[in-house]
Amino acid sequence: MVREAFVTLVTNDLYCDGALVVAQSLRSHGTKKDIVVLTTPHVSAACRSRLAVLFDHVVLVNILDSNDSAHLALLHRPELGVTFTKIHCWSLTQYSKCVFLDADTLLLTNVDELFERNELSAAPDSGWPDMFNSGVFVFKPSMHTFQELIQLADNQGSFDGGDQGLLNTYFSEWSTSDSSKRLSFLYNMHSTSTYSYSPAFKQFGKDTKIVHFIGNPKPWNHKYNEQTGQVEILEGSGILEPALLKHWWEVCCQARKISNVEKLSPQFENLTVSKSSDKISDPLEVEDDKMASHRQHFLQLQASNVDYTGVDSFDHIQAKLDGILQSSSPTRPSTSVKKNT
Ligand code: UDP
Ligand code: GLC
Ligand code: MN
Repeated sequence: MVREAFVTLVTNDLYCDGALVVAQSLRSHGTKKDIVVLTTPHVSAACRSRLAVLFDHVVLVNILDSNDSAHLALLHRPELGVTFTKIHCWSLTQYSKCVFLDADTLLLTNVDELFERNELSAAPDSGWPDMFNSGVFVFKPSMHTFQELIQLADNQGSFDGGDQGLLNTYFSEWSTSDSSKRLSFLYNMHSTSTYSYSPAFKQFGKDTKIVHFIGNPKPWNHKYNEQTGQVEILEGSGILEPALLKHWWEVCCQARKISNVEKLSPQFENLTVSKSSDKISDPLEVEDDKMASHRQHFLQLQASNVDYTGVDSFDHIQAKLDGILQSSSPTRPSTSVKKNT
C-alpha cells in the first residue's frame, strides 16, 4: 500500500500550538493521509503528549543547527539555525511521498491533491520569487537525499543560515523546471503585508488554501480572548487579514481542548525514533520537576507573560541554546552542522 504523509516540525514548546493547529486543520478538512510531527529531545513531555493525541506519529530526531549567525543576522532571525532539523524529513522512508508544512501554517481546505505533484514542488517565496519558500513543499523521502543534504550543509552551508537557503541550493533547478513543480501561491499564502501584495490579496485571497504566518510575530504571540473572540493584534505585525488570525486562534482552542490529556506522561504508543537519530536520550526519562517547570514556563508564555528581562531575555535564551547545542551529541558531526564562514 502506498503510504503518504503530511509532516511538520517542532523543536521547542513555543511551536507546539502551531503544530497542533496544523494537525487539527488537516483533520477538520478530512485528510486521508498520515499526519507526522518531527520533534527533538528538548520538546517537553507535556507538549509531546499533546502532539501524540493529534498526530499519527511523533518522530523523535536530533537537532540539526547551522550555527551560522552571520547569515541568520541577514535574515534578522537568529533563532532559525535549528530549521536545518527539517532535513530529517527525508529520512521518513516508510512513506513514498510527503508534504512538509511549517508549524506556522493553517489549512483552509483539503489539500490532499498536493500528493499528485512530484519532488520538489513548492510555491515561490514572496521575498525572492525565483526561489521557493520552504514552508510548504512536496518531497520524496530518501536516505540518499538526506545524506546529500547533510553533506551540502557541512561543506557549503546555507546562504540564509536556515533550511530555505540550503534546499534552494540543492533543488536549484526548481525555478526553471516544469510548471507542475511551481505550486500556486494559494498553497503558501504569506499572511503579512510586508511580504505580500495587498491588492492581489483582495482579488485572490478568498481562494487561499494554506495560510503561512511567515516572520514574526507568530499567531500565538497575539493575545486572544476566547469569550469575546477578539484578537489583540500586536502593533506593526503587518497582518493582511485579521480574520485569518482569529481563525487560527479558533482552531488552536479546539486543538488545545482535544489534546488536553489528563496525565502529563501518558503512553507514547505512537512515539517512534527516526533511523537517523540514534543515541538520542529517552524523552520519557525527563525528570518530573524539570518537566513541571517547563510546563509552568510554557503556560506563562501562552498567557503572554513574557519575562523580557529575565528568563525570556535574548541573552538567557542564547545561553540556554548554547548549552543545549553543546550537550547534543558532540560525537555526532551531523547533529550540528558547521558554520560556513
Ligand atoms: N521551527 C521550530 N523551532 C524553532 C524555529 C522553527 O520548530 O525554534 C520550525 C517550525 O516548524 C517552523 C519552521 O521551523 O514553522 C520554520 O520557522 P518559521 O516558521 O519561524 O520561519 P518563517 O516561516 O517565519 O521564516
Ligand atoms: C523562510 C521559510 C521557513 C524557513 C526559513 C529559514 O522564510 O518560511 O520555512 O525555515 O526561511 O530558511
Ligand atoms: Mn514558517
